[in-house]
Amino acid sequence: MPKQATQGFNGRLVFAIAAAALGSAFQHGYNTGVVNAPQKLIEEWITETEQNRTGQVVDQSKVTIIWSIAVAIFCVGGMIGGAITGIVAERFGRKGGLLLNNVLVALAAIFEGASKAAGSFEMIIIGRFFIGINSGLNAGLAPMYLAEISPVHLRGAVGTVYQLVITISILVSQILGLESILGTEDSWPILLAITVVPGIFQLATLPICPESPKYLLLSKGQEMEAQRALTWLRGSIEVHDEMDDMRNEYEAMKLVPKVTLKEMFVNATLRIPLIIAMMVMVAQQLSGINAVMFFSTKIFRMAQLDDKSAQYATLGMGAVNVFMTLVSMVIVEKAGRKTLLLIGFAGMCCTTILLTICLAYVQNAALWVSYISILLVILFVVMFAIGPGSIPWFLVSELFNQSARGAATSLAVAINWTANFIVGIGFLPLQEALGGNVFIIFTILLALFVLFVYKKVPETKNKTIEEISSMFRQISYQ
Ligand SMILES: *[C@@H]1O[C@H](CO)[C@@H](O)[C@H](O)[C@H]1NC(C)=O
Repeated sequence: MPKQATQGFNGRLVFAIAAAALGSAFQHGYNTGVVNAPQKLIEEWITETEQNRTGQVVDQSKVTIIWSIAVAIFCVGGMIGGAITGIVAERFGRKGGLLLNNVLVALAAIFEGASKAAGSFEMIIIGRFFIGINSGLNAGLAPMYLAEISPVHLRGAVGTVYQLVITISILVSQILGLESILGTEDSWPILLAITVVPGIFQLATLPICPESPKYLLLSKGQEMEAQRALTWLRGSIEVHDEMDDMRNEYEAMKLVPKVTLKEMFVNATLRIPLIIAMMVMVAQQLSGINAVMFFSTKIFRMAQLDDKSAQYATLGMGAVNVFMTLVSMVIVEKAGRKTLLLIGFAGMCCTTILLTICLAYVQNAALWVSYISILLVILFVVMFAIGPGSIPWFLVSELFNQSARGAATSLAVAINWTANFIVGIGFLPLQEALGGNVFIIFTILLALFVLFVYKKVPETKNKTIEEISSMFRQISYQ
């Protein structure tokens, strides 16, 4: 057995993964899901607050707009956070950036937690903006740290931990949002402020872990520190091979000039994979997954469930999401990226057609129609988690070599949050206008994405970066 393969997980590495991933991906997932369950409660409170201020009856559409802003501003923060990831990661380091990022968590928890007491829904909006910036930064910094501290043969498995923690923390947010826990008129501010807990966990654990060895060597040129960090992470002083690999990478990096943003669009060898990376990111978001995530409780109520059953159905959806993300993690190396993307998007497309039909008849139909709508929503999540949920994040890294990966990733991540924002701000007004027919929009988009993936996305399974790059060189000369 080669020496590297015997060098698997050890207690310290697992500790570092937990310290970095739990405290960061949790913010991303928890704040995606937390607005779901207490929507009705908070909207009622906004209505009352606004009524007291103006002394007039408040238009429901105004409350809808305020709530949509509070939900969607999370993504605006995410775009900003994603865009500044590179600067923060170089200036403060991966670990340093992650730790510093918790200042935003504290601010968000204070603003959101105190909003009710202060009688200001604006404070929820401000708090969600802060936690959005935090999550955008986390989405860049944490996977970077995870990839850089992992042994080469574990990098894929460790990389998916980020996505897995997101799905788990969405589920946690849904459980805590139950009426019997924190989803009540009095305790929803606590529900929002609980986001501070993983921040405290990270501040208590991450300082014990070393900075990324690759950052220390490749960015800072600190060879001794890099070696010390690597020794800590491997729990062994036998790190010479890995240090040699890193030194080679360092030398190679000096030879290749850094790819500029302009070159990414001008050079066809880079432009083709860039378009694919960005399209897959857009497809992930415009598939409608976050419309379902943000508003599932409302969808279940449209399917004529009472409030309590709607919340439990949402919970089941979260559990399915976690389970299927685990499944996709296991099968992605065997089934291939392209296959799982196609199955996922095609499955989602068919599901939205059936869902539209069900929701059209649900008002005057038998009870079983509403149960079928719920099953369809859960099937939608299954199809998302099987591939479109996790693969876009891998794929960007697989399509580019070291010199272009940074620029490509920041563009792809920024466009992901932008699309996320568009769905967040647009879905509820559209749903008010179109009712259940709103899903037809996603049906059409999903059909286009299936076509795009089928025609343009290459299979990257078991291919090296060089093989993939030469494939794009050939395509660009045709
Ligand atoms: C609105 O005013 C009433 C009467 O003063 C008060 O009881 C209630 O708590 C106020 N509601 C909010 C949300 O400020």
